[in-house]
Amino acid sequence: MYICVCKGITDTAIRDAVHRGADRMRDLKTCLGVSEQCGICACHAKEVLEQALMQKTVAQRHST
Ligand code: FES
Repeated sequence: MYICVCKGITDTAIRDAVHRGADRMRDLKTCLGVSEQCGICACHAKEVLEQALMQKTVAQRHST
């Protein structure tokens, strides 16, 4: 699903960025360009970011 229409960024791309180490909106802006134009996507992108971070934390706990 597209999160940032201006840049064509999907939730999968955000989750992949989190997997590679992104953990702040600033990281998503830098590596993907999320929320750099109209900014309408910022709130939804943050939700996806937080959800992906939570899933990453849970996965790390189960792998140790
Ligand atoms: S929808 Fe993301 S900057 Fe416009």
